[in-house]
Amino acid sequence: MLLLDAAERPLKPDLIDAAFRADVLDGLASRPRAIPARWLYDERGSRLFEDITRLPEYYPTRTERAILQAHAPAIAVCVGGVRTVVEFGSGSSVKTPTLLSAIKPAAYVPVDISGEFLRTSAAKLATAFPLMAIHPVEGDFTRPVVLPAAAAAGRRLGFFAGSTIGNLAIGAAVDLLRAFGRTLGEDGMLLIGIDRIKDVGLLVAAYDDAQGVTAEFNLNLLRRINRELGGTAPVDAFRHVARWNEAETRIEMHLEARRDVRFEIAGHMFSMAEGETIHTENSHKYGPRDARLLLRAGGWSPLAEWTDEDGLFALYLAKTAPPAAAP
Ligand code: SAH
Ligand code: AVI
Repeated sequence: MLLLDAAERPLKPDLIDAAFRADVLDGLASRPRAIPARWLYDERGSRLFEDITRLPEYYPTRTERAILQAHAPAIAVCVGGVRTVVEFGSGSSVKTPTLLSAIKPAAYVPVDISGEFLRTSAAKLATAFPLMAIHPVEGDFTRPVVLPAAAAAGRRLGFFAGSTIGNLAIGAAVDLLRAFGRTLGEDGMLLIGIDRIKDVGLLVAAYDDAQGVTAEFNLNLLRRINRELGGTAPVDAFRHVARWNEAETRIEMHLEARRDVRFEIAGHMFSMAEGETIHTENSHKYGPRDARLLLRAGGWSPLAEWTDEDGLFALYLAKTAPPAAAP
């Protein structure tokens, strides 16, 4: 049953435009140049991400899905009775049916910034789960998420799949985990997918695939800027770059100028010399101990951890941590 009440109506386009415009203009004026990764997901960006998840090089989606399928019954036992599942950055919700079938919540709240894509995915899920109340919420999960009243009662499980936590810098990831704690309540739980540090060759290939789908996902940001902000950035003058940053244990995506360029966005002029880049995404990877530390710093106590046999990816179940006792 798909429900769209007042809190769940699409964000006003002018609100999105203003935030996008400010992030792009500020990001291009800063050094290093950087634009927050959330803006990669317009309708086409969301579709390109779905294509990425099916690439042979992109191991995270199929690995996380297999872990979830193998352990859904055990996860359901550990979670116990839950009334509402809140999924942050739900995208196409492809992994969600496995979880919902095992947990059988009364309500499901997918939260995503990519509005049209969110509503289409929620409508598809409503066909598969006709008795479950589905309340899609379009919004930025880094800002306070107001749950629809009907979904706010009872115990809640947060689901944060795909290692989207890795797209945030460490400090922001900790803040986000704490904000999830406030949204999910004192007796809330969190099931979170976290990608592991691994062979650099495997990592770089996953973000620079042979078919060029990830390159198009990255370049699509310039197309979106040109379309929505009246930009003149010459897309063919940029190339996709994916590189491993060892010190920060993350893959970085950049858009690198192939030649000197000058372009206009929303009435502002920008110049870039050949070889200069716009940093468009981080994808942090965590070792087993790092991941547990991250959860604890974010106010969560890890209860269980499931991984694949090659240790590529891990799913963690955590409960809200009580306030720290002395000493
Ligand atoms: N959870 C899915 C999709 C991951 S892709 C999976 O595991 O496959 C990341 C998703 O998060 C996209 O759907 C994107 O639109 C959404 N997203 C990214 N940043 C966001 C933000 N700040 N607020 C809300 N949604 C966001
Ligand atoms: C959504 N997020 C976890 C993906 C990742 O792996 O960081 C986004 C992505 N970027 C390039 N490929 C996939």
